[in-house]
Amino acid sequence: MKHHSMIQWFPLVVLALMLPGCHQKMAIQPKLKPQSPTQFFADGRSTRPQVVGTVARGTLQEDAVFSTGKVADLGVVTAGAPVDPKSILAQYTSEFPLEVNESLLLRGKERYNIYCNVCHGQTGAADGTIVMRGFLHPPAFWEQSPGNTSHNSRGLRYQGAGQLSLESAPVGYIFHVITHGYGAMGSYSAQISPRDRWAIVAYIRALQKARATEASIPSTQDNSHPKGAH
Ligand code: HEC
Repeated sequence: MKHHSMIQWFPLVVLALMLPGCHQKMAIQPKLKPQSPTQFFADGRSTRPQVVGTVARGTLQEDAVFSTGKVADLGVVTAGAPVDPKSILAQYTSEFPLEVNESLLLRGKERYNIYCNVCHGQTGAADGTIVMRGFLHPPAFWEQSPGNTSHNSRGLRYQGAGQLSLESAPVGYIFHVITHGYGAMGSYSAQISPRDRWAIVAYIRALQKARATEASIPSTQDNSHPKGAH
Protein backbone atom coordinates (compact mmCIF):
# COMPACT_ATOMS: atom_id res chain seq x y z
CA MET A 1 0.00 0.00 0.00
CA LYS A 2 2.79 2.41 0.98
CA HIS A 3 4.80 1.54 -2.13
CA HIS A 4 1.78 2.10 -4.33
CA SER A 5 1.15 5.66 -3.03
CA MET A 6 4.78 6.66 -3.77
CA ILE A 7 4.40 5.71 -7.39
CA GLN A 8 1.20 7.67 -7.47
CA TRP A 9 2.88 10.88 -6.20
CA PHE A 10 6.05 10.59 -8.22
CA PRO A 11 4.81 12.41 -11.39
CA LEU A 12 3.46 15.25 -9.28
CA VAL A 13 6.80 15.71 -7.51
CA VAL A 14 8.62 15.79 -10.87
CA LEU A 15 6.12 18.29 -12.20
CA ALA A 16 6.59 20.51 -9.14
CA LEU A 17 10.36 20.42 -9.65
CA MET A 18 9.94 21.42 -13.29
CA LEU A 19 7.61 24.35 -12.61
CA PRO A 20 10.26 26.96 -11.73
CA GLY A 21 11.71 26.48 -15.20
CA CYS A 22 8.36 27.42 -16.68
CA HIS A 23 7.98 31.16 -17.30
CA GLN A 24 7.50 33.41 -20.25
CA LYS A 25 10.65 34.22 -22.16
CA MET A 26 9.67 37.91 -22.36
CA ALA A 27 9.84 38.23 -18.58
CA ILE A 28 13.59 38.31 -18.80
CA GLN A 29 14.73 40.85 -21.29
CA PRO A 30 17.31 43.60 -21.21
CA LYS A 31 15.10 46.47 -20.06
CA LEU A 32 15.41 49.29 -17.57
CA LYS A 33 12.76 50.20 -15.02
CA PRO A 34 11.82 53.92 -15.00
CA GLN A 35 14.41 56.07 -13.23
CA SER A 36 16.69 53.11 -12.47
CA PRO A 37 20.43 53.73 -12.88
CA THR A 38 22.41 52.22 -15.72
CA GLN A 39 26.02 51.93 -16.76
CA PHE A 40 25.06 51.85 -20.39
CA PHE A 41 24.87 55.65 -20.79
CA ALA A 42 27.74 57.90 -19.77
CA ASP A 43 25.56 60.04 -17.46
CA GLY A 44 24.37 56.92 -15.59
CA ARG A 45 20.69 57.69 -16.18
CA SER A 46 18.41 55.18 -17.86
CA THR A 47 15.73 57.80 -18.60
CA ARG A 48 16.99 59.80 -21.52
CA PRO A 49 16.56 63.57 -21.68
CA GLN A 50 14.32 64.96 -24.42
CA VAL A 51 15.96 65.82 -27.68
CA VAL A 52 16.73 69.56 -27.64
CA GLY A 53 13.84 71.46 -29.19
CA THR A 54 11.24 68.76 -28.45
CA VAL A 55 7.74 70.25 -28.31
CA ALA A 56 4.82 68.37 -26.81
CA ARG A 57 1.80 68.24 -29.08
CA GLY A 58 -0.36 71.36 -28.72
CA THR A 59 2.21 73.29 -26.70
CA LEU A 60 4.18 75.00 -29.45
CA GLN A 61 4.93 78.56 -28.35
CA GLU A 62 5.57 80.42 -31.54
CA ASP A 63 5.25 83.86 -29.97
CA ALA A 64 7.41 84.13 -26.85
CA VAL A 65 5.96 87.46 -25.68
CA PHE A 66 2.40 86.17 -26.09
CA SER A 67 3.07 82.99 -24.11
CA THR A 68 5.42 84.35 -21.41
CA GLY A 69 4.71 88.07 -21.07
CA LYS A 70 8.46 88.59 -21.25
CA VAL A 71 10.60 90.38 -23.79
CA ALA A 72 13.88 89.49 -22.06
CA ASP A 73 14.97 87.13 -19.31
CA LEU A 74 17.33 87.89 -16.45
CA GLY A 75 17.11 84.29 -15.27
CA VAL A 76 16.89 83.58 -11.55
CA VAL A 77 17.29 86.75 -9.52
CA THR A 78 18.54 86.14 -5.99
CA ALA A 79 17.02 88.38 -3.34
CA GLY A 80 19.48 91.02 -2.20
CA ALA A 81 21.83 90.53 -5.16
CA PRO A 82 22.64 93.82 -6.90
CA VAL A 83 20.49 94.16 -10.02
CA ASP A 84 19.51 97.24 -11.94
CA PRO A 85 15.81 97.84 -11.10
CA LYS A 86 15.22 99.01 -14.64
CA SER A 87 16.41 95.71 -16.11
CA ILE A 88 13.97 93.84 -13.85
CA LEU A 89 11.03 95.78 -15.21
CA ALA A 90 12.39 95.72 -18.76
CA GLN A 91 11.97 91.94 -18.79
CA TYR A 92 8.20 92.28 -19.01
CA THR A 93 6.25 93.63 -21.93
CA SER A 94 4.33 96.80 -21.18
CA GLU A 95 2.19 96.38 -24.28
CA PHE A 96 -0.54 93.84 -24.91
CA PRO A 97 0.53 91.36 -27.59
CA LEU A 98 -3.07 91.11 -28.83
CA GLU A 99 -5.90 93.47 -29.64
CA VAL A 100 -7.76 94.65 -26.57
CA ASN A 101 -11.42 95.05 -27.47
CA GLU A 102 -14.78 94.68 -25.80
CA SER A 103 -15.07 90.93 -26.36
CA LEU A 104 -11.62 90.36 -24.81
CA LEU A 105 -12.60 92.46 -21.78
CA LEU A 106 -15.87 90.56 -21.36
CA ARG A 107 -14.00 87.27 -21.57
CA GLY A 108 -11.49 88.63 -19.04
CA LYS A 109 -14.27 89.67 -16.69
CA GLU A 110 -15.83 86.21 -16.86
CA ARG A 111 -12.47 84.43 -16.29
CA TYR A 112 -11.47 86.87 -13.52
CA ASN A 113 -14.70 86.20 -11.67
CA ILE A 114 -14.16 82.45 -11.99
CA TYR A 115 -10.48 82.27 -11.03
CA CYS A 116 -9.36 85.42 -9.21
CA ASN A 117 -12.42 86.91 -7.51
CA VAL A 118 -12.36 84.37 -4.66
CA CYS A 119 -9.16 85.94 -3.32
CA HIS A 120 -8.65 89.27 -5.04
CA GLY A 121 -12.31 90.33 -4.75
CA GLN A 122 -14.76 91.42 -7.42
CA THR A 123 -13.22 94.90 -7.77
CA GLY A 124 -9.61 93.91 -7.01
CA ALA A 125 -9.64 95.27 -3.46
CA ALA A 126 -8.10 92.05 -2.06
CA ASP A 127 -11.30 91.23 -0.19
CA GLY A 128 -12.29 87.90 -1.74
CA THR A 129 -14.17 85.26 0.25
CA ILE A 130 -11.12 83.08 0.85
CA VAL A 131 -9.20 86.06 2.23
CA MET A 132 -12.16 86.94 4.48
CA ARG A 133 -11.88 83.41 5.86
CA GLY A 134 -8.24 83.92 6.84
CA PHE A 135 -6.09 83.34 3.73
CA LEU A 136 -3.10 85.65 3.26
CA HIS A 137 -4.18 89.09 1.98
CA PRO A 138 -2.92 89.66 -1.56
CA PRO A 139 -1.94 93.19 -2.57
CA ALA A 140 -4.91 95.21 -3.87
CA PHE A 141 -4.93 95.98 -7.59
CA TRP A 142 -5.50 99.72 -7.04
CA GLU A 143 -4.85 102.36 -4.40
CA GLN A 144 -7.28 101.81 -1.54
CA SER A 145 -6.87 105.26 -0.02
CA PRO A 146 -4.45 108.13 -0.71
CA GLY A 147 -0.97 107.16 0.41
CA ASN A 148 -1.92 103.54 1.19
CA THR A 149 0.68 101.18 -0.31
CA SER A 150 -1.33 97.95 -0.08
CA HIS A 151 -1.52 97.92 -3.89
CA ASN A 152 2.26 97.71 -4.34
CA SER A 153 3.75 94.67 -6.01
CA ARG A 154 5.50 92.36 -3.58
CA GLY A 155 7.15 90.28 -6.27
CA LEU A 156 8.77 93.22 -8.04
CA ARG A 157 10.02 94.63 -4.74
CA TYR A 158 11.43 91.23 -3.80
CA GLN A 159 13.27 91.04 -7.09
CA GLY A 160 14.79 94.46 -6.37
CA ALA A 161 12.66 96.75 -8.54
CA GLY A 162 11.68 98.88 -5.54
CA GLN A 163 8.19 100.05 -4.59
CA LEU A 164 5.93 99.88 -7.60
CA SER A 165 2.14 99.82 -7.61
CA LEU A 166 0.35 97.06 -9.47
CA GLU A 167 -1.24 99.84 -11.52
CA SER A 168 2.16 100.76 -12.92
CA ALA A 169 3.54 97.20 -13.08
CA PRO A 170 3.94 96.13 -16.72
CA VAL A 171 1.07 94.04 -18.14
CA GLY A 172 3.60 91.29 -18.88
CA TYR A 173 4.37 91.04 -15.17
CA ILE A 174 0.73 90.39 -14.24
CA PHE A 175 0.61 87.79 -17.02
CA HIS A 176 3.77 86.25 -15.55
CA VAL A 177 2.18 86.05 -12.07
CA ILE A 178 -0.91 84.26 -13.47
CA THR A 179 1.39 81.86 -15.34
CA HIS A 180 3.78 81.02 -12.50
CA GLY A 181 1.99 82.17 -9.37
CA TYR A 182 3.73 84.24 -6.72
CA GLY A 183 4.38 83.43 -3.07
CA ALA A 184 1.21 82.03 -1.51
CA MET A 185 -0.61 82.18 -4.85
CA GLY A 186 -0.39 79.15 -7.10
CA SER A 187 0.16 78.99 -10.85
CA TYR A 188 -2.87 79.15 -13.13
CA SER A 189 -1.12 78.05 -16.32
CA ALA A 190 -2.88 74.68 -16.36
CA GLN A 191 -6.36 76.15 -15.97
CA ILE A 192 -6.12 79.35 -18.01
CA SER A 193 -4.88 79.52 -21.62
CA PRO A 194 -2.41 82.31 -22.55
CA ARG A 195 -5.14 84.17 -24.45
CA ASP A 196 -7.47 84.06 -21.45
CA ARG A 197 -4.60 85.19 -19.19
CA TRP A 198 -4.21 88.30 -21.37
CA ALA A 199 -7.98 88.79 -21.22
CA ILE A 200 -7.78 88.74 -17.41
CA VAL A 201 -4.84 91.18 -17.40
CA ALA A 202 -6.86 93.53 -19.64
CA TYR A 203 -9.81 93.27 -17.27
CA ILE A 204 -7.56 94.04 -14.26
CA ARG A 205 -6.36 97.15 -16.11
CA ALA A 206 -10.03 98.06 -16.66
CA LEU A 207 -10.75 97.63 -12.93
CA GLN A 208 -7.77 99.86 -12.12
CA LYS A 209 -8.76 102.54 -14.65
CA ALA A 210 -12.41 102.47 -13.57
CA ARG A 211 -11.29 103.00 -10.00
CA ALA A 212 -8.94 105.83 -10.89
CA THR A 213 -11.68 107.56 -12.90
CA GLU A 214 -14.22 107.13 -10.14
CA ALA A 215 -11.79 108.60 -7.61
CA SER A 216 -11.16 111.65 -9.79
CA ILE A 217 -14.86 112.46 -10.26
CA PRO A 218 -16.12 114.73 -7.47
CA SER A 219 -18.95 113.19 -5.52
CA THR A 220 -22.29 114.20 -6.98
CA GLN A 221 -24.21 112.69 -4.13
CA ASP A 222 -26.57 115.20 -2.61
CA ASN A 223 -26.60 114.68 1.13
CA SER A 224 -28.76 117.70 1.90
CA HIS A 225 -31.97 115.67 2.06
CA PRO A 226 -32.57 113.66 5.19
CA LYS A 227 -32.90 109.92 4.54
CA GLY A 228 -36.33 108.82 3.34
CA ALA A 229 -37.62 112.38 2.84
CA HIS A 230 -39.32 111.99 -0.53
C1 HEC B 1 -6.29 81.35 -3.53
C2 HEC B 1 -6.24 82.77 -3.57
C3 HEC B 1 -5.80 83.44 -4.85
C4 HEC B 1 -6.31 83.30 -6.12
C5 HEC B 1 -7.45 82.41 -6.53
C6 HEC B 1 -5.55 84.19 -6.94
N1 HEC B 1 -4.62 84.85 -6.23
FE1 HEC B 1 -3.32 86.30 -6.89
N2 HEC B 1 -2.50 86.40 -5.06
C7 HEC B 1 -2.93 85.72 -3.94
C8 HEC B 1 -2.07 86.03 -2.82
C9 HEC B 1 -2.22 85.50 -1.40
C10 HEC B 1 -1.07 86.91 -3.30
C11 HEC B 1 0.09 87.47 -2.52
C12 HEC B 1 1.13 86.37 -2.43
C13 HEC B 1 2.21 86.63 -1.42
O1 HEC B 1 2.44 87.79 -1.04
O2 HEC B 1 2.86 85.65 -1.02
C14 HEC B 1 -1.40 87.14 -4.71
C15 HEC B 1 -0.70 88.00 -5.55
C16 HEC B 1 -1.08 88.36 -6.82
C17 HEC B 1 -0.49 89.41 -7.61
C18 HEC B 1 0.61 90.37 -7.16
C19 HEC B 1 1.99 89.78 -7.20
C20 HEC B 1 2.97 90.77 -6.62
O3 HEC B 1 3.96 91.06 -7.30
O4 HEC B 1 2.76 91.26 -5.50
C21 HEC B 1 -1.15 89.44 -8.80
C22 HEC B 1 -0.88 90.36 -9.99
C23 HEC B 1 -2.15 88.41 -8.75
N3 HEC B 1 -2.10 87.77 -7.54
C24 HEC B 1 -3.04 88.14 -9.76
C25 HEC B 1 -3.99 87.11 -9.72
C26 HEC B 1 -4.87 86.78 -10.82
C27 HEC B 1 -4.94 87.53 -12.11
C28 HEC B 1 -5.63 85.71 -10.42
C29 HEC B 1 -6.64 84.94 -11.22
C30 HEC B 1 -6.15 84.31 -12.42
C31 HEC B 1 -5.22 85.37 -9.06
N4 HEC B 1 -4.24 86.25 -8.69
C32 HEC B 1 -5.78 84.35 -8.31
C33 HEC B 1 -3.99 84.87 -3.86
C34 HEC B 1 -4.74 84.43 -4.93
